[in-house]
Parts: sequence; C-alpha cells; structure tokens
Amino acid sequence: MAERQFSHDGISLALEDVGSGPPILLIHGFPLDHGMWDAQIESLRGRFRVIAPDLRGLGRSRLAAGDEELGVGMERYAADLAAMLDWLSIGEPIVAVGFSMGGYVALQLALRWPKRLRGLVLCDTRAAADAEEARAARIKMAEAVMQSGSAAPALAMLPKLLAQRTQDERPDIAERVRGIIERQRPEGIAAAQRGMARREDVRGRLDHIIAHSLCIVGREDAISPPAEMHEMAVLLAKSGDDDVRLVEVENAGHLAPIENPAAVTDAIRTFAQECYRPA
Ligand code: MLT
Repeated sequence: MAERQFSHDGISLALEDVGSGPPILLIHGFPLDHGMWDAQIESLRGRFRVIAPDLRGLGRSRLAAGDEELGVGMERYAADLAAMLDWLSIGEPIVAVGFSMGGYVALQLALRWPKRLRGLVLCDTRAAADAEEARAARIKMAEAVMQSGSAAPALAMLPKLLAQRTQDERPDIAERVRGIIERQRPEGIAAAQRGMARREDVRGRLDHIIAHSLCIVGREDAISPPAEMHEMAVLLAKSGDDDVRLVEVENAGHLAPIENPAAVTDAIRTFAQECYRPA
C-alpha cells in the first residue's frame, strides 16, 4: 500500500492515503497501528479516498521529545490529525471513524474541530474517563514496557480484545493481532497509556457534537460493551441528530473491525454514502 510521511511538530507521521472519492479517515486503536484497518482500506478504497494514519508513537509514526514521559493526550493526537488534513489540502468536512482509543481521538476532533467532520463513526469506544484502578493499571503497563524494552507486557491485553469464540476458533486472528502489538515500540505504548489515563470524561459534551454519528460495537465487546455504547448513542442523539444508530456486530468482541471485517465495513460504507449524499 502507498505509505506517505508527513512532517509536523518536529516529528514524522506515517499514513496510508489510497483510493479516490470522498475522504474517510480511519483512526486506529491501542496498542495497534493503521494495519488493523487492512480489510476496510481494501474494500473502501474503490469508492472513497481512505486515509489511515499511524498515531504519534505507534506504527511508523514518531514521538516528539518528552512525549513518552508526559504521555500524549487525546487532544494532541487529534491536533496531529487536523494538521495532517491541512497538509493533505482536505478542507471540506469529512467522515472520521475512530476505533477504541481512535474513538477517544475522534471525539476530540469532533469537539475541538467541529467543522472538520460531517460524519463520525464511533467503533467499540467509550466517552467516559477511566476509573482510578484502570488509570493505575495503565501507568503500570507504561512502566513495564519501558522496563522490558519491548511491547511484550501489552500482550496481556490480547484475551480481552477478542471474543471467546474468536480465541477458540480463529487462531489466525489472534496471531495477527499479536503481530501488530509486538511491532509497537515501548515508548509509543507508554505515551499512549499515560495520555489515556488522563483523558477527560466527554459524556456531558456529546450533545455538542454536530456531525452525523454512527456507533458500531462487537456484540461481545468486554472493553466497551454494547450497553455502554447504547448510552453513548442516546447522548449523541441529544445533539439534534435524532437518528443515531447503534450497529451490533455478530461474532465479534472488542476488535470488531478485525473479527468481523465485512459487517464493520458495510456499516461504515452505508453511513459514509449517506453522509456524502447531496442534500
Ligand atoms: C483500544 O483498543 O484502543 C484500547 O482498548 C483502548 C483502551 O485501552 O482504553
């Protein structure tokens, strides 16, 4: 695939930029990179321009000095993406899809740069901040990856990312996800964990989001369960976008885009077509 490099804020950020048509921005989760979207990129590029960056510190994108120690806030990742859209000369409002941590970032994009988005897809993600225990676990993982000098401690997340059935019957999927995690640098993992630990609770601001919204969740998601995503859809609907749908994806846990790529891609495609339909 065609990888591009974008220099900004003293660092280099990598992105796939393929296909032609109205733009769709795919924002990956943690501790992953844009490779999680391979199936969606392949299917959507025939009809859309698909832009899939590696967030700062993950995949082939670099961290700036101090990012590892201070953590990268969700608003910082979102600012990188806003700058990237300027660099790509994309001024019109686009459709953004955020998976899990990418959803935290997409929410910041929608709240801070509302004119950038015509459509917002929130996939297996949350609007609430972490509880104290979860925050402490993030700091512990940040320290563990730095101490081990590898992504290995982050592999502990693997069972929670996939539905039980995927783990039992699809070893190829578990292997693929393991490979994506293992190629992440410890500094990028630590920076993301520290940033997520201090992210804000945006539930009370969901009604300020003006973009059309769609929620997608794996039916067996143990990290952002369907009930929590349903609450998010209800809060988003209060923004006046009275038709915020929640698509529940069969045969999938948290990593629905990888466990059931066809269902997730179809939901994104249908929504994006609606968003880009001339009024
Ligand atoms: C993700 O998939 O991006 C993570 O599970 C997000 C998180 O750790 O909160």
